[in-house]
Amino acid sequence: MIGFNRDEKGTLFCDDVDLNDIAKEYGTPTYVYSASHIAGQYKKLEGALSKEMGDKALPLLCYACKANSHLAVLKLLKNLGAGLEVVSGGELERGLKAGFTPEKIVMTGVGKQAHEIARAIEVGIGSLNIESIEEIRHVGIISQDLQKPVNILFRVNPDVSGGGHEKISTGRKRDKFGISIDRIREAYKQAQHYNTLNIKGLSMHVGSQIFEVGAFEKAFKKIAELVTELRSEGLPVTTLDIGGGFPIAYEEDDGALDLDSYARWVHEIISPLGVDIVMEPGRFFVGNGGILLTKTIMVKKTPEVDFLVVDAAMNDLIRPTLYEAYHEIAPIQQDKEKQATPHHIVGPVCETGDTFAKDRNIQPCAEGELVAIMSAGAYGFVMASNYNTRGLPAQVMVQGEEHSLIKKRQSFEDLIEGEDIPSWV
Ligand SMILES: Cc1ncc(COP(=O)(O)O)c(C=O)c1O
Repeated sequence: MIGFNRDEKGTLFCDDVDLNDIAKEYGTPTYVYSASHIAGQYKKLEGALSKEMGDKALPLLCYACKANSHLAVLKLLKNLGAGLEVVSGGELERGLKAGFTPEKIVMTGVGKQAHEIARAIEVGIGSLNIESIEEIRHVGIISQDLQKPVNILFRVNPDVSGGGHEKISTGRKRDKFGISIDRIREAYKQAQHYNTLNIKGLSMHVGSQIFEVGAFEKAFKKIAELVTELRSEGLPVTTLDIGGGFPIAYEEDDGALDLDSYARWVHEIISPLGVDIVMEPGRFFVGNGGILLTKTIMVKKTPEVDFLVVDAAMNDLIRPTLYEAYHEIAPIQQDKEKQATPHHIVGPVCETGDTFAKDRNIQPCAEGELVAIMSAGAYGFVMASNYNTRGLPAQVMVQGEEHSLIKKRQSFEDLIEGEDIPSWV
């Protein structure tokens, strides 16, 4: 089996591994990832593109590792031929450690710091995606000081609204990202002052979890028009990075992204420009390839609500409280005899916001019973914190019948490492 499926007895498995066994061996809360699912998603996107465009003109799929930057996930995608999109010096180091060649790494970020820019230039990064007119000067001076050329793309803010939530829309004029279309010529002019800046073209990223797939088409058309105009003015565009944002299904009704339409738009709108194409999918590769495995502490009954209190909390998975995100939540052992009833599903953190779901129908769970918070492979562990002095959860990767602990649970000692009490306290 690939990914998360139930057997005939109603037990949830990750690939061929019973999640009860994972909990027994590694404890809870634990993130569990299916390597086969992640690889399958990569191949699905690559397949849809190659059906339209053939193998030669295939875009470079730079995995946006902010979604899940575990080294094992990076290595898995690198082995399949992916490139990498990073937004910090830390992510760049992860990419290099996982074995990505620097030319296949692109760096975005609205506030890249001098040390991050310098390191990226020194290792020979594929491109720096510049997010403002001001940043041109930062990158220009550093590359001149280092006497090392660097490829740059201007991240265009296309003023297209896309993204499943206010907090993950990035392509509108009022968002902090990118350079507005009417200032792109100014960006070329500024960058031409630095002989170490190789202007390769443009990048964009409209937002995340974009269900209105038409938003992609709209943004592609806008950027294609811009490329044609710039070229007619003698301004070069040889690379186009069209970002990520492909949605995944968090609930059954979500459906799936029409990859074929997406690939057709890339082929029909972008390919004729004759540019090297880069994409930055994150969530699509990993989102449904992970769950957060948790255990019922108790069911707290009140006159108004039954609270299912589990041992995972908002510090482990912040998406529900940060984005009001929906995650399917299901017991590991399904029992069709048991009638599902409404519960608020909450963690132990001292915040009312520590709520994974409200009035969610779920079969009654006994103390100690295991529960899966589904679709937690993207923007899950990477956003976890130590709030309430809770150690970070463990992470486990599964492939077929194999499973490995890929990050041990953080102990109290790990958690306070580096903390010091001054002698004068
Ligand atoms: C610049 C950039 N590229 C790619 C992504 C990945 O988006 P997604 O995970 O929705 O594919 C993001 C996400 O925020 C982003 O900011």
